[in-house]
Amino acid sequence: MTNDRRIFLKQAATLAGAFSVNSLFNQVHAADWQKASQKVKHLTDGEVAADEDFWRVIQQSYTVNPGIINLNNGGVSPSPLVVQQAVERFNQLANEGPSYFMWRILDQGREPLREKLANLAGTLPDEIAVNRNATESLNTIILGLDLKSGDEVIGTKQDYPHMIQAYQQRAMREGIVYKQISLDLPIEDDEQIVKAYAGAITPKTKLLHVTHMINWVGQIMPVQKICDMAHAKGIEVLVDGAHSFGLLDFKIPDLHCDYFGTSLHKFLSAPIGSGMMWVKKEKIEKIWPLPSSGQPHSSDIRKFEELGTRSFPIEQGIGEAVNFHEGIGSKRKEERIRYLKDYWASKVQRIPKVKLHTSLNPKYSCAICGVSINGMTPAELDTALFDKYKIHTVGIVWENISCVRVTPHVYTTLPDLDKLVNAIGEIASKTKPRL
Ligand SMILES: Cc1ncc(COP(=O)(O)O)c(C=O)c1O
Repeated sequence: MTNDRRIFLKQAATLAGAFSVNSLFNQVHAADWQKASQKVKHLTDGEVAADEDFWRVIQQSYTVNPGIINLNNGGVSPSPLVVQQAVERFNQLANEGPSYFMWRILDQGREPLREKLANLAGTLPDEIAVNRNATESLNTIILGLDLKSGDEVIGTKQDYPHMIQAYQQRAMREGIVYKQISLDLPIEDDEQIVKAYAGAITPKTKLLHVTHMINWVGQIMPVQKICDMAHAKGIEVLVDGAHSFGLLDFKIPDLHCDYFGTSLHKFLSAPIGSGMMWVKKEKIEKIWPLPSSGQPHSSDIRKFEELGTRSFPIEQGIGEAVNFHEGIGSKRKEERIRYLKDYWASKVQRIPKVKLHTSLNPKYSCAICGVSINGMTPAELDTALFDKYKIHTVGIVWENISCVRVTPHVYTTLPDLDKLVNAIGEIASKTKPRL
C-alpha cells in the first residue's frame, strides 16, 4: 500500500474530529459556531476573513486580559477557554492519583492524539512524536543526526537562536562545519532564496536548515523549492515550522522536507508547553533520541517520547486545540490572520517616518509584520506602545533586523488594531527622525 493510500485510510478512520459528540469543544461551541458558519457559507474564505460577525463568535472563546492589547502572539499564544478547561480537568484527574490516572488512564489518549495531529499534518501517525516545544523537536533532530567531523550543515543568520546554538555546539564538540548564509529580508523572489542556499552547498553538505516562517519578521520561505533543489544533490532538509503549523494551510508532505519540528502553543493555541516532531518514516531509525531510549535505533517514533515525567494534562489538552482549529478551518484561519496583519500594516505604511520590514505580498507573509519609526530604537518604540497605549509587542534586534514585531491572532479585534494604527501615528508625529 502506498503512503498516500495509508494516510487516506487513517484520515477516514479519524473522523472523530472537532464536532464529534464527545469533544469538550463540541459541548461548548458547536451550536454557536455552526450557526455562525451557516451565515457565511456562501462566502469564500477570503470574504469570511472580513466578516466581523463571524469572528466575534471566535473572539469570545478566548479569555484575554482586557487591560492590555496583546500583539505578541508570535512569542506564544493564549489557549481558548475550552482548551484551558480541558487541561484543568485532566490536571484534577491526574492529581487524584498521579501514577494511576496519568500513566494508565491519560496515557491512553496519546495514540488517538497522534492520529489527530497526523490528520491535521497530512502524515502517517507513526511519523508524529508529541513533545513539549519546537526547541525540543528540532534539537532532537539536530543533535540526533549521525554527522561526523567535516560534514557541513547550511542555515541562515536569521534562523532561531536555539537551533543555531545546537549546530554551533556540534561544531565545537564534533567538528561539523556549520555555515550560515544571510538573507536581506523581506525578499519577494523564491529563486533568490533558493540560489542563496544552493550557492553555499559543497560536496560535504549533508543538511539544510530552513525556517518555514522566519520569526523576526514573518518572511515565508519557499520551502518546497529549497527541498527539491537540495534533494537533487542528495542533501536532506530540516524545517523549523514553529510559526507555520496551525497558521498556514498546508500539509507537511507538501513541503517535501525530511524532518519537521514545531511548537503547538503558537498559532494552534494548544496548551503552553506543547510541541510536535515529524520524521519521514524511513528516516526514524537513524535519528538518535535526545533523552535516551533502550532502543535508540528503533524505527518506532515513540522512542522520541521517552521524556520522563511531564505534564500529561497539557499533552491531552492539545486535542481540544486541534478541535478548535478545525472548527474554524485552516484556510479560513490563515486568511483571517493575514487580513488582520494587512489591516494595520497597510494603514501605517502611509505614515511619514514609518517603515515596514515585512512584505505585504500574501505569498511571503501572514500574521507577523515588522515595523519601525525613523528616530526610535525597537526598544523605545516597544516601550512607547506599552507605556501610553498598553499595546504589547516585542522589539527585535537580531543580525541585520531592527524593528518591532506585531502579531495578531484570531481573537484580535479591529478596534484594537485601530488603536495600534493611531498609536504609531501619534508616536511617529512626535519623533525627530535620524538623518
Ligand atoms: C522560528 C522559531 N523556532 C523555534 C522556536 C522555539 O519555540 P519553543 O519556544 O516553542 O521551543 C521559536 C520560538 O519563538 C521560533 O520563533
